[in-house]
Amino acid sequence: MNFEELTQRVIGIVKETGLYILAERKNFSDQKDVEIKGHSNFVTYIDKGSEKRLVEKLGNLIPGSGFIAEEGTSDVRGETYNWVIDPIDGTTNFIHGLTPFSISVGLMENNEVVLGVVYEISHDEMFYAAKGTGAFLNGSPIKVTAHADHQQSLIATGFPYCAFNQLDNYLACMKEMMEKTGGVRRLGSAAVDLCYVACGKFDAFWEYGLHPWDVAAGSFIVQQAGGKVTDFNGNNGYLFNGEIVATNSLYFNKFYEIVNKHLGK
Ligand code: IPD
Repeated sequence: MNFEELTQRVIGIVKETGLYILAERKNFSDQKDVEIKGHSNFVTYIDKGSEKRLVEKLGNLIPGSGFIAEEGTSDVRGETYNWVIDPIDGTTNFIHGLTPFSISVGLMENNEVVLGVVYEISHDEMFYAAKGTGAFLNGSPIKVTAHADHQQSLIATGFPYCAFNQLDNYLACMKEMMEKTGGVRRLGSAAVDLCYVACGKFDAFWEYGLHPWDVAAGSFIVQQAGGKVTDFNGNNGYLFNGEIVATNSLYFNKFYEIVNKHLGK
């Protein structure tokens, strides 16, 4: 399969879906169009409409492919290929008229991600990578930063909204990050946080309580841009165990040491 060519077709589908989301946003009312899935976990008919479009069109690109999709439009699993889809990553931002929010699409071949597309809709930023091609933003190559020290680094995180039994450890980790690094940001879309590491706006990112659809595309784009991604114990479990550390390669050890100290097992 030619993943580079396939990525261009995925970009077309994602862009079209982004136009649907922007058009619907004009009619959207946070009073009647928001459903509560769980604590601090929301969904709108636009998330569902976006996912329906993505599932239908991406499925046509690879006959027999399956889906791991946030809103559960399809639970069909493919034998070799599975699309990992977040139809709006940053739904809370979207509901409140904030940015960023994005569409995130990854493709897994067996257990390996082979392409990733993240579209930050409000700024029209299309991040993408295919196996072996490097990473791109709107057609131009992107790379992680070369900052190696805490003071040079601007880092990002996602605040926990579940698994509060780890909250004290998270806050201890945050305290140390605040004391040591050049600054901490919380934007509200993990897929975008990862792409901002990939293109050098951020030097590092950590969060727990995530799902495969939040991180599959973005973590792959970071790696293709020269960065390093692990879970809180330095292993490869980040796609499915919900915890992720992503940094440029030079800063990894210093950043990971703090996360692992407070949140590792
Ligand atoms: C959320 C965003 C947010 C992160 C949450 C995710 P959703 O995804 O990525 O940044 O902090 O953990 O669940 O629910 O908007 O698709």
